[in-house]
Amino acid sequence: MKRREFLKSALVTGAGLLILPGGVRAGRNSPGNKLNIALIGTWGRGAAHFDAIASENVVALCDINEDHLAFGAKRFPGAKTYVDWRKLLDDHQALGLDAVVCCTADHTHAFIANWALNRELHVYMEKPLAISVEEARVVRTNWLKRKSKLATQVGMQRHANPNFNRVFELIRDGAVGELQAAYAWGNRQIRRPGYLPAQGAPPPNLHYDLWLGPSPDHPYNPGYFSGGPGANCLQWNMYWDFGAGQIGDMGSHTMDLLWNAVDAKLPTSAEAKGEKFNPEVTPVECESPANDWRGPLRVHWYQGGLMPNSPPNYDLKKIDHGAMFKGTKGFLVAGFGSRVLLPFGDNADMTYYKPRPQDKMLPPIGDFQKQWINACKKPSLKTACDFEYSGNMIEQMLLGLVAYRVGKKLEYDGATGRVTNVAEANALLRRTYRPGWTLNG
Ligand SMILES: NC(=O)c1ccc[n+]([C@@H]2O[C@H](COP(=O)([O-])OP(=O)(O)OC[C@H]3O[C@@H](n4cnc5c(N)ncnc54)[C@H](O)[C@@H]3O)[C@@H](O)[C@H]2O)c1
Repeated sequence: MKRREFLKSALVTGAGLLILPGGVRAGRNSPGNKLNIALIGTWGRGAAHFDAIASENVVALCDINEDHLAFGAKRFPGAKTYVDWRKLLDDHQALGLDAVVCCTADHTHAFIANWALNRELHVYMEKPLAISVEEARVVRTNWLKRKSKLATQVGMQRHANPNFNRVFELIRDGAVGELQAAYAWGNRQIRRPGYLPAQGAPPPNLHYDLWLGPSPDHPYNPGYFSGGPGANCLQWNMYWDFGAGQIGDMGSHTMDLLWNAVDAKLPTSAEAKGEKFNPEVTPVECESPANDWRGPLRVHWYQGGLMPNSPPNYDLKKIDHGAMFKGTKGFLVAGFGSRVLLPFGDNADMTYYKPRPQDKMLPPIGDFQKQWINACKKPSLKTACDFEYSGNMIEQMLLGLVAYRVGKKLEYDGATGRVTNVAEANALLRRTYRPGWTLNG
């Protein structure tokens, strides 16, 4: 029997005797119940995951920058190293891999998520989960098929702030009356005139072609790699071949605050207006269908310096990244860590609102990364930002970007993932990839 087939048959014995060749650690079936984890992207945001995964067996590391790979290997010297994540994932059986944590550039997220899920691996994916509507849908579908056995989480770690639960409870319990509209905004602006021009050759430690990965070719420029650790994404995420601008960046975090509180599903329409020359200014307005506790809702996203109108006697500009909920009795305004309730009008006497008793309050999430690790070991446990929740949220935002690009209001059928009224918009729901790269491999 070939080594690969042997490993496969040994692994499918499941609860039986698990025999692995020397050098492979036993993973989640071992007595210590540790996961065998691969970290893809081992510097920058990757380093923010070092402590969380150090409690497990880190068996493999991958980075397209060999200096960054060496940085990760210093912390996890026993791990096997790779520069191409496809090779790492192809080796998943030999590595005895259980799970992947991924901190690469955004244009590879959906690829790595799909490849890992298709190999039955748990995934923690940094935000945003995807940069096209099609990518979001394929990843979500792949996970939904396996949700009873695989744990997923998108790196929207602010979701673990107790404030997220408190905002949800206030909205759900009617502190603003009947919910009418919800707004989220972010004030980060990184304006660029276009892709960077060719400049020099990539240094020998950088596999630039692997960094480009599935995206169309763009000439090398050191500017894409000139940012500090954990902030280098701000050098490339405004370009649509590499990211989704603020929609994918702070939009992932800030729309999460809104999305969680209004319990939204896929939108029925999307519309966006902005300065034609600069995708940084892309306010998006979507219609979110009714759910079982509220009516249909208009959901708004503002960026690029634009803001929703402030409610009476409150200046929204006090909050860089926040959300506002407008109901029949008042407003709730929230940042990531705090909130303020603004009842308005003569009948906003609060008698309509009964705060929930302490024993009915939502329990704290605790450590966000740990929540995922625990769910990998026991998949009946839920994670807050799984690929269904996060996939729906980013699909809505990315549909907004398509609406911006065609300059028309789009009617959307979330069941089929098709725009029903503007034919040319459908071509923009997906990206074109370089030959040799398969989204759902
Ligand atoms: N959750 C958060 O609060 C938060 C904060 C910062 C960044 N992020 C996300 O983390 C990701 C990385 O951001 P960053 O600022 O660290 O970026 P970065 O450009 O520094 O990339 C991180 C690491 O990944 C490596 N890498 C890039 N593409 C790769 C590939 N295809 N295969 C293997 N390695 C690859 C880079 O060489 C680098 O070492 C982004 O998606 C960003 O949105 C999330």
